[in-house]
Amino acid sequence: MNHKQALEHPIFKIISQSANALNVEAYVIGGFVRDFILNRDNAKDIDVVAVGDGIQLAKQVAKNLPNKPKVQIFKTYGTAMLRLNDMEIEFVGARKESYTEDSRNPAVENGTLEDDQNRRDFTINALALSLNPSNFGDLLDPFNGIQDLESKIIKTPLDPDITYSDDPLRMLRAIRFATQLGFKIEDKSLKAITKNSHRIKIITNERIVTELNKILESPKPSIGFLLLEKTGLLQYILPELTALKGIDEVEGQRHKDNFYHTLEVVDNIAKHTDNLWLRWAALLHDIGKAPTKKFSKKVGWTFHGHEFEGSKMVYRLFKRLKMPLNDKMKFVQKMVLMSSRPIILAQDIVTDSAVRRLVFDAGDYVDDLMTLCEADITTKNPRKFKKYHNNFKIVREKIIEVEERDHVRNFQPPISGEDIMKTFGLKPSREIGIIKESIKEAILEGDIPNEYDAAYQLMLKEGKRLGLKVTN
Ligand code: CTP
Repeated sequence: MNHKQALEHPIFKIISQSANALNVEAYVIGGFVRDFILNRDNAKDIDVVAVGDGIQLAKQVAKNLPNKPKVQIFKTYGTAMLRLNDMEIEFVGARKESYTEDSRNPAVENGTLEDDQNRRDFTINALALSLNPSNFGDLLDPFNGIQDLESKIIKTPLDPDITYSDDPLRMLRAIRFATQLGFKIEDKSLKAITKNSHRIKIITNERIVTELNKILESPKPSIGFLLLEKTGLLQYILPELTALKGIDEVEGQRHKDNFYHTLEVVDNIAKHTDNLWLRWAALLHDIGKAPTKKFSKKVGWTFHGHEFEGSKMVYRLFKRLKMPLNDKMKFVQKMVLMSSRPIILAQDIVTDSAVRRLVFDAGDYVDDLMTLCEADITTKNPRKFKKYHNNFKIVREKIIEVEERDHVRNFQPPISGEDIMKTFGLKPSREIGIIKESIKEAILEGDIPNEYDAAYQLMLKEGKRLGLKVTN
């Protein structure tokens, strides 16, 4: 089969000529070929394998390019990379590899193209296109990767036990590809993942998170999380989620399975936002439920304070996985902490003051919070489903209305501490806080508008109540 269209970009001719000048064979391999055949937009990362010295080929290509780009060399891996506009082209020599037991760094030995294809993770990632002048554009597919692309199957070129124990990250990659592409993992492979799941422990957290993020960014993330759970990987990576599994029953009272509920919420939110961190918030919004779960005869199952507990767990989880402990983490914490607020609101009659408080507390994140809470409606009771969604619609309308009128998002008090001190001739003291708080409360309750004059009058009234005298 000839796939010349994939190689229309002039860079491929340049690589071809460079390889020819060095008298080595060169092939484009892996994701680029896979995604071209799948019609997926992924033409930015190009992997080139040379039967010979990959670093030397990279240098030769750079020399033949008009802008003479810098070649970045990774000595330990024997690879080299150069950038051309927004493309990243990585060069590697064909390898025949054996991995050491306790690390994913391979002991490298030179090999043929076949050797190299053998050591790749999946048949669909072992497809190669020839860059050699004699058969430019020919597809080399020793493991029927094309067939597997058509039947949507993830399969390893070698015995899966070998492929996965060679590099345990591939267990996550298999699940990630299954989720991104909507493919099925071959049974034999799934069994091997289950058997080798404990070996995920030797993989760095950064690499694990990269895969988790890709799963979360997929159209239906639950595919991945169900597979992670089924193969036993999830308990090593995110034990907070496996702890949500199961339904307890005491005296005929049951609670819902919060693991499956969570996955429904994640799938729901994926339809409405591409914001990775909001998707993380959906994944973690109920993690506090495992440690706070209680049963009492009077009220049945409760998860008191699970939002607060959950937001503390977010920090520990991010830290453990070496995820950023920055504003992204704070955002996820805030979403988890506030995740029940709009729900409570939507169960009742929606009052202006409740909406004002919500906007005040959520600030700029109020829209994201609403998106999360709408995704959280997983009730199978159509009457309740409709009612909650209708109420949320009202809440969303009220948020706009209240915001236009009262400006409580990123609230700045109309009367400052300074104003209060001046008016009553006060030094910094408790009274200032009390007055500020009652002004804020009155605004949120809707007793006074968010305006200077009204707040000034209330300040005078409060000052009088506290026995203060106006000095200015
Ligand atoms: N590869 C592998 N084992 C790994 C990682 C990568 O065998 N643990 C091989 C595969 O042939 C893969 C190629 O290296 O196609 C390039 O890897 P990478 O760029 O990480 O992934 P892609 O397959 O290109 O996919 P994506 O861009 O979606 O990550």
